[in-house]
Amino acid sequence: MTMCFCATVLTVGIQAQDVSIYLDESKPLEQRVEDALGRMTLEEKVAVIHAQSKFCSPGVARLGIPEVWMTDGPHGIRPEVLWDEWDQAGWTNDSCIAYPALTCLAATWNPEMSLLYGKSIGEEARYRNKTVLLGPGVNIYRSPLNGRNFEYMGEDPYLAARMVVPYIQGVQQNGVAACVKHYALNNQEVNRHTTNVIVDDRALREIYLPAFKAAVQEGKAWSIMGAYNLYKDQHACHNQYLLNDILKKEWGFDGVVVSDWGGTHNTEEAIHYGLDMEFGSWTNGLSNGASNAYDNYYLAQPYLKLIKEGKVGTAELDDKVRRVLRLIFRTSMNRQRPYGSLCSEAHVDAACRIGQEGIVLLQNRNQVLPIDLTSVQRIAVVGENALKMMTVGGGSSSVKVKYELSPLEGIRRRVAGKAEVVYARGYVGDPTGEYNGVKSGQDLTETRSAEELVAEAVELAKTADYVIFVGGLNKSAQQDCEDSDRQSLELPYDQDTLIEALAAANPRLVVVNISGNAVAMPWVDRVPAVLQTWYLGTEAGNALASVLVGDVNPSGHLPFTFPAKLEDVGAHALGEYPGVPRQDGSGLVDERYNESIFVGYRWADRQKKVKPLFAFGHGLSYTAFEYGKVRIDRKEMKADETITLTVPVTNVGQRAGAEVVQLYIRDVKSTLPRPVKELKGFRKIMLAPGETQEVSFVIDSESLRYYHDGQQKWVAEPGKFEAVVAASATDIRGKASFMLME
Ligand code: BGC
Repeated sequence: MTMCFCATVLTVGIQAQDVSIYLDESKPLEQRVEDALGRMTLEEKVAVIHAQSKFCSPGVARLGIPEVWMTDGPHGIRPEVLWDEWDQAGWTNDSCIAYPALTCLAATWNPEMSLLYGKSIGEEARYRNKTVLLGPGVNIYRSPLNGRNFEYMGEDPYLAARMVVPYIQGVQQNGVAACVKHYALNNQEVNRHTTNVIVDDRALREIYLPAFKAAVQEGKAWSIMGAYNLYKDQHACHNQYLLNDILKKEWGFDGVVVSDWGGTHNTEEAIHYGLDMEFGSWTNGLSNGASNAYDNYYLAQPYLKLIKEGKVGTAELDDKVRRVLRLIFRTSMNRQRPYGSLCSEAHVDAACRIGQEGIVLLQNRNQVLPIDLTSVQRIAVVGENALKMMTVGGGSSSVKVKYELSPLEGIRRRVAGKAEVVYARGYVGDPTGEYNGVKSGQDLTETRSAEELVAEAVELAKTADYVIFVGGLNKSAQQDCEDSDRQSLELPYDQDTLIEALAAANPRLVVVNISGNAVAMPWVDRVPAVLQTWYLGTEAGNALASVLVGDVNPSGHLPFTFPAKLEDVGAHALGEYPGVPRQDGSGLVDERYNESIFVGYRWADRQKKVKPLFAFGHGLSYTAFEYGKVRIDRKEMKADETITLTVPVTNVGQRAGAEVVQLYIRDVKSTLPRPVKELKGFRKIMLAPGETQEVSFVIDSESLRYYHDGQQKWVAEPGKFEAVVAASATDIRGKASFMLME
């Protein structure tokens, strides 16, 4: 009896309770936002738009609105850090799966891999209770010296756009916001806080913005991170042109603009020029007399003071807060969001598959690869990168992994019982291994001289059936690392000498280049096989071994050009890299992108005499593909019509394999100069031996357009066009001409 009575009282209590609109998920988002906004005090509003710790901003505790927790990104979930420090907090439950670096993801040319990547890393972020994942990055690969290219998706705006959208969708399915970075024109690390980029509107619109636009309009990213550099003399984190005019007004972005850490410089500009949330401002020297250095952020007390003195109104503040509330309702206040998972078997599998699909077989003379384990007794593995942990270092993308399987260990495991594996270090690169308190735990100290190391490796190479040299760059300063750029295109640590010596010692040499950037290969004619394997994360060793022995047929293709030398890159031939310091005492550095739209293959295509070492889109397979005749369904189209192009592709080899069929468009005659051709479509297809598939592309007038800076709009100029079907930017397999009619 008593129980029954209680239940009745309880039901009546709940019914009588008034559910506030902002808490009612059945109400439209904007209504909830307005309701919450209306309940907040001025102080509460100012509080939610800036950090309260390294990676966290306050919610509204009084209203049950939670804090916002950010995390790097973009290759794994960063370990927890101390409240006001970069150093890891030393938790024992924050190890993650490291996914392959974004260059590798782009090299898969497979949007399904992007979705899998986003979904998997999003699940880890969700499990770790993060609101925002700081990634992915889509800054265009302009120079092979950029220390952060490994975190981005290559040199082509179309490829980057197609690959970024599913990543975002995968992350956000988990109720975790993606934060696309670094918007915009952050194409180098040297002088990253002081470089004022001077770029024409065509290059801005055609090269540097499309991936961000796709991220916002198609991926529906809930947040975006401003870049450190300046554009039109304003820092990108508070920039009238990039943030207010283009991102918010033109593209209709309704999410949050987050500053890069320390990218905010001025309260007035931050108020008026589009920044919504301030993070990572340097607190040194700002904290005098304040209880908390965060109160002194540009968008904290200084903002409140201006409002209280009546010097600025609250319209901008309300807009910022609305955006923050929208973000919170979409993420942590979405009761339907899944719970996520960490280091699951599915995540390990995803990391491995993405790595396998992204590895690029650059060269394979005499079919040296794959290694036939039935006829091999001894494999010599040489090189520091065969055992060096690559997930520690490189800057903010550094992680604390559950484990990282090295190339050497992966090869050992795969060939166990079939062949003996011997190892020689060969060279010493970077024996350190610590980032923000996360230690690799490896002791890579070496006392022998360079000559002794080479001699040992060569002796070993002579005794082996195969030599696998694993070298390249690493994640230390001036390599593939944030906050500095490389000093040259050459491989560091005199690896070229070692490679030449190994090539002379054994004809079955495979060079495995681990990097996120192109490197010079002066020895390329003397080395039969070259693999580009990126930073593969947790499953590095397994992914590499599976390709070496042919369990997996490589199908990665380059997302950027490998130039033969630095001067073959537009940014270096014409551009002002790394910029020209101003003489006005401002400390700013102007950098003109004189090469304009001619970035990557767009530049290489124009050069009559120089050929790239390996072209954009290049990637071999253990099988071969033949392209049949290109057909188009009509020869003429109007602006509102489309043309369908079809090409049959056949696997003419003995193994199943995947090919990336690429479609480039060439504008035969145009008023303004245009690239020789531009990527406008690609499809990755899997073919059994002997199988043929017809691949179709629909060409619409959008693929024919360029940005007319005089008219400030996109223009598709009537006239003759060519559809170019290719296996890389220099391996053209078929063409068809058509007309765009008035
Ligand atoms: C990087 C960002 C990163 C942030 C937080 C900055 O130095 O540029 O990419 O997300 O730090 O770690």
